[in-house]
Amino acid sequence: MPEISRRHFLSSSALLAIGGGLCASTFNIEALAAAPKTQHAVADVLSMSDVQIAKESVVVQAAYRVIVDAAKQLHDSALRSTTLAILENPAPTIAKGNEKEILARLQKEGFIDPARKEVFPPVKNPEQSPQPFWSAPGSGYASHHAYPGGLVTHTALNVVSAQALVKNYMDVNGLTLDYDAAVGGEILHDLHKPWVFAWQDGHSCRKELQLAATGEHHVLSIAESIARKVPSQVVVAQACAHEHPATPAGEKLVVGWIKAASIIAGVDPIKSGLLDKSGNTLPLPRRIEGWVVHLADHDFVISSSACQWTAAALVKLAKENYELSDAQQLNSFRNYVMSNLTAMRLYGILSSQGEKAFASEVARVVKK
Ligand SMILES: [Fe+2]
Ligand SMILES: [Fe+2]
Repeated sequence: MPEISRRHFLSSSALLAIGGGLCASTFNIEALAAAPKTQHAVADVLSMSDVQIAKESVVVQAAYRVIVDAAKQLHDSALRSTTLAILENPAPTIAKGNEKEILARLQKEGFIDPARKEVFPPVKNPEQSPQPFWSAPGSGYASHHAYPGGLVTHTALNVVSAQALVKNYMDVNGLTLDYDAAVGGEILHDLHKPWVFAWQDGHSCRKELQLAATGEHHVLSIAESIARKVPSQVVVAQACAHEHPATPAGEKLVVGWIKAASIIAGVDPIKSGLLDKSGNTLPLPRRIEGWVVHLADHDFVISSSACQWTAAALVKLAKENYELSDAQQLNSFRNYVMSNLTAMRLYGILSSQGEKAFASEVARVVKK
């Protein structure tokens, strides 16, 4: 993938795209969240599926468009079409591999619990994602962006953060970074969350298991990128989302994720350019784009707590103002409200304006 010079970058559509991404699309999401909405009666909310909730949410759909627009701006045409295909249908094609053999190899290398009997979350059809990219939660139900469409509000913020970091490193340090590795790696970094965090009966999502000492979505997402022939420098940057290689301990983790993902995808990570020829480090010298992906994924630092605090406040409000008490109904209420207003926006209102303003904001989208 060709790198772009600073001059080329500044004169290219990439900058316009970044400007558009930061100035138009992002603010557009905020404007949509702030605009008046159609209110649903609480009884209607309780009958909606989680996919339906995300489909109706203008905020979620706008966030998805930000990501798709960013994918359309990737320079490498093969990466661009692969990324757009994944956003359209993040199918778990890696599940077509021989699961028993993969499990045995992962267990031999110590990457997976010896008691595990399977590697993959449930798969009905490896050619079809269990849900659209835009309806998945951003993480586990007790973590960040845990509502229908949370994955796209999380990824949209990350992607515009990565775009801005690429630009800022250029402006401040004169760095020439590989735009596709930094932004493409960010777009793809959580691609298998629709599979790992499939919605369950009761309106919470599947509980994630560990793989190679991190949440399985990370390794499965890296494996899917490898299997779909995403360029190695993009995959390496993507692999740095959960940790960066500046310390021996940090690099060991990233190398482990790449090795585990390579076993799943059935490739040799050294021959594929994913690791240095020693097999113990990332390709040397270590590229900066991985740090961009890692730093831009740090929305979770506040958003995890904000989501949990907002969820607790919504449950209290649902009980006091909407006379709900059943656990499943409380999940539906929470999913609908957060999907339309976002957990971060709601927590911003709760933390700066208090419970009354928080209740008024919720009342904009749901009535008794
Ligand atoms: Fe992740
Ligand atoms: Fe993430």
